[in-house]
Amino acid sequence: MNVPALRAEFPALAADRPGGPPRYLDSACMSLVPREVLRAVEEYYVAYPGCAGRSVHRFSEEVSRRYEEARAAFAAHFGRRDPRGVVFLRNATEAINLVAEGLPWRRGDRVVITDREHNSNLVVWQRLVAERGIRLEVVPLGDDGTFDPEALETRLARGVRLVSVFHTSNLDGRTLPLREIAERAHDRGAQLLADGCQAAPHARIDLERLGADYYAVSAHKMLGPTGVGALLASPEALAPLRPLTVGGETVAWTTLEGHALRAPPHRFEAGLQNYAGILGARAGLAFLERVGPEAIEAQQLELNRRVSRELAGEPRLRLLGPEAPEARPSIFAFALAGIEPHDAALFLDEGYRVLVRSGQHCVHSFYAARGLAGNVRASFYLYNDRADAEALVAGVRELLARLPGPGASGTSAASPRRPAPAGRARRPAAGSAAAGARSARPRRTAAPGRAGSAGGSG
Ligand code: ALA
Repeated sequence: MNVPALRAEFPALAADRPGGPPRYLDSACMSLVPREVLRAVEEYYVAYPGCAGRSVHRFSEEVSRRYEEARAAFAAHFGRRDPRGVVFLRNATEAINLVAEGLPWRRGDRVVITDREHNSNLVVWQRLVAERGIRLEVVPLGDDGTFDPEALETRLARGVRLVSVFHTSNLDGRTLPLREIAERAHDRGAQLLADGCQAAPHARIDLERLGADYYAVSAHKMLGPTGVGALLASPEALAPLRPLTVGGETVAWTTLEGHALRAPPHRFEAGLQNYAGILGARAGLAFLERVGPEAIEAQQLELNRRVSRELAGEPRLRLLGPEAPEARPSIFAFALAGIEPHDAALFLDEGYRVLVRSGQHCVHSFYAARGLAGNVRASFYLYNDRADAEALVAGVRELLARLPGPGASGTSAASPRRPAPAGRARRPAAGSAAAGARSARPRRTAAPGRAGSAGGSG
């Protein structure tokens, strides 16, 4: 893979940015977009700014055609034969909500999740427990994220309507054996909903082979614009779902007394759609296919191996998830004893232009159950290069060197209430990679409990 050529396609990585290119290691939150995605977005507004499926003029006809082509491209990309199984939505969260709120639940129906689901795959079920009387069963994963088939079987044996799990974890990058989970669920008469947000950007996903009944993705993690996601299913699996929203575009006809909904997927796509975003998402998909998931995985694994090797043996660095980078190719998540995750992330940004995510990654339940403050998470993608990995290693090393030694402060990364030592850090040492950079002092101090808040730290 020609990484320098690839990087040149991403304006956010421009080498001539003031201060140099950012070392962007937060693609698990959102990926950057290549120029052709930006061009596709602009092209819509310039060349055919119409409403799909409404007016009969040329703009409308053109956008209608491209909109349905985008649907077919998503279906083909995910190994689904029938484009009518693709529903365009705002993001994966909305896709999961559509399934959860749309299925006809009976009191006592059971749903199984794991103990480290993103809030998007937790809160919606908790609400159904409170409001509709469903039961939520939680399968615990091993300390390093390993899946225990027996723990799932025990829950399935009680009678389960739906298993709803992440495909790849946004916490530590571990991938669940989705095909096995689908087979076990189907054997017991349950359906499978998978949150594919962290898997789809990196891997070849063949939903016919994996057997997930519903699969949720967000385009903003797959080189696409924000505000676009999709639910991938079959038309048969979509049929029993009650639309989340109804109105224009969802109906075949209305009278003052009634209406008839359109067939899936259009009954789920209410109102004017985000055409520019969807066409941009399609361009992102095309880019992804050109590079190929095998090349992406090889690239990010090489970088992750380098970082993991360089930082192995640091006594105050605690890795989250499996030891081997092969089991978490896109993610290196860690805590540093003696500094809050947000302060570490601010230090890396200010001193090294390394952009990582910190906090609880919208999986508050995981940290709350363990009394942990959070983690720093570096996530790799196709445009990352060796300089990104080296900057991360250098930044973490300098941070560790600045922290008081073990026993000196007695602080622990697991304590959200400790003051932040990096807030008192000296400026980067002369001659270090951070010399001349802005102050390494955090712009904001991690207030007590902040890392656990449900807001931006999520
Ligand atoms: N946006 C979430 C994350 O960064 C999924 O992990």
